Amino acid sequence: MDLANRRETYEEAGLDVDDVHADPIVQFEQWYRDAEAAQLWEANAMVVSAVDADGWPTSRYVLMKAFDHHGFVFFTNLESDKAVALDGNPQTALTFGWLPLRRQIRVLGLTERVSSDEADDYWARRPRGSQIGGWASPQSQVVPDRAELDRRYAAFEAGVGDGLVERPEHWGGYRVVPQRIEFWQGRPNRFHDRLVYTLSPTGSWPITRLAP
Ligand SMILES: Cc1cc2nc3c(=O)[nH]c(=O)nc-3n(C[C@H](O)[C@H](O)[C@H](O)COP(=O)(O)O)c2cc1C
Repeated sequence: MDLANRRETYEEAGLDVDDVHADPIVQFEQWYRDAEAAQLWEANAMVVSAVDADGWPTSRYVLMKAFDHHGFVFFTNLESDKAVALDGNPQTALTFGWLPLRRQIRVLGLTERVSSDEADDYWARRPRGSQIGGWASPQSQVVPDRAELDRRYAAFEAGVGDGLVERPEHWGGYRVVPQRIEFWQGRPNRFHDRLVYTLSPTGSWPITRLAP
């Protein structure tokens, strides 16, 4: 494979301070709508990065399940590696990669757990199979084989019968409260546009341009 000679030309329209909304969450919503309109698979997928207790950055995709001026929300197992890392160090990075649109959004922020009411509310909307999976999977733990996972799923399913699957204590969500949001638009000749909103002490979001 000759990746060094692989080149795409980025002809998308540019991004200027005059084109973007003063409020980065409104701007995010516009780009998110564009990603949905382009029918990108899992447009709400984002990479969440955390720093673990040994100082290693670790990254994985999760699904953003809500966003507003309070932050970006995802749900997960609260005993997973990511949860342990985020509980120990709330400094987080998120990356959205909408590559067919030649777009990337990068967020820096602090992470907090969502309330149990919020977690209950989303849990109740999950399909039953995902709820059972949430009980049956000790996320991030070593398991002997696939059969053991299937056995755990079947055992939980048999145990609960037709009953309500309650949210386990070990399942909940995190909200990433943004402090810096970068909008990246690919342009020809690798002369890409990068606009960064940085939260000021007064709550405004001054915008600066970074070299590509
Ligand atoms: C597109 C995509 C979406 C995902 N969404 C979630 C999610 O919302 N929550 C979650 O816990 N894991 C999600 N995963 C799985 C995670 O990437 C990861 O494998 C899992 O959470 C365990 O990560 P950890 O061991 O670092 O905690 C998703 C994976 C992909 C590829």
